[in-house]
Amino acid sequence: MNIYVIGKPIKHSMSPIIHNYWLTKYSKSHIYKKKEVNKAFLPQIIKQIKEHKIIGANITIPYKKDMFKLLDNLDKNAIQSKAVNTIYRKENLIFGENTDGVGYCEALKREKKFEISNKNVLVLGSGGASFGIISELINRKVAKIVISNRTKKRGVELIEKFQNNDTKFKLIDWKKIEPDSSIDLIINTTSFGMNENETIKINMKNLKDSIIYSDIIYKPKKTQTMRIFERKGFITQNGLGMLVNQAAESFKLWFNINLTSQDIIEAKELCEKTY
Ligand code: ATR
Repeated sequence: MNIYVIGKPIKHSMSPIIHNYWLTKYSKSHIYKKKEVNKAFLPQIIKQIKEHKIIGANITIPYKKDMFKLLDNLDKNAIQSKAVNTIYRKENLIFGENTDGVGYCEALKREKKFEISNKNVLVLGSGGASFGIISELINRKVAKIVISNRTKKRGVELIEKFQNNDTKFKLIDWKKIEPDSSIDLIINTTSFGMNENETIKINMKNLKDSIIYSDIIYKPKKTQTMRIFERKGFITQNGLGMLVNQAAESFKLWFNINLTSQDIIEAKELCEKTY
């Protein structure tokens, strides 16, 4: 049977490299394929899983929110982020989950030994990706989230949505990003940086030495902003670890297999060969 990743455009997706590697390694005779579809096709995917024609699917840009609206059964992170990146069958019901946030946090933990709990985080962006990650930062008991977004209104909406008794929130101006010395981690969840000439202006004067700058972009391998932080001696991370770790979470939902750290490293190395 097949597993699909659906989106538009989809041709640059690295997910087939990752999943087909694990499928072979665990002797599963399924094939993971990319499929570029229009929005009208989304209900068909749910129907095909229901009818046992496919195992499940990953959903990517721009359909994560549309798929959320189509599903009756949703897991915790899908509900919190209002977005679905994985569909799977559980006891004959079709469920949607969002594994992006867990993938992001697990990549930080595995690659940088960084635990989110009690940390202060600056999140750049208030789009779909930001919602997915913030949902999991809160599950893992982050202490403070500072938001900066080009369009202030979307930042305000995000804070209203996630406000709770345990997390401190603050909004700062996109044109004046000046993190204070309490910040442990900066996450760029925006698409700004995908083009080589795009640099996010961040005033570094107050930053602590141990701060990590992390970008969820993985193409290019190093964004300009990552390069600037590296030049100043700070630790950086791109989005490839998140991609592979969110894939591992999807694999677990489809096959109930907990992939090992070695499985994750091997899949990441395969992706790295394509740069
Ligand atoms: P995704 O699901 O990938 O997060 P999205 O919901 O369209 O996509 O969100 C894109 C994010 O990147 C937003 O935070 C967006 O800022 P706006 O809310 O102001 O649109 C941000 N973004 C995109 N292009 C940007 C740019 N050129 N400069 C700054 N931020 C940008």
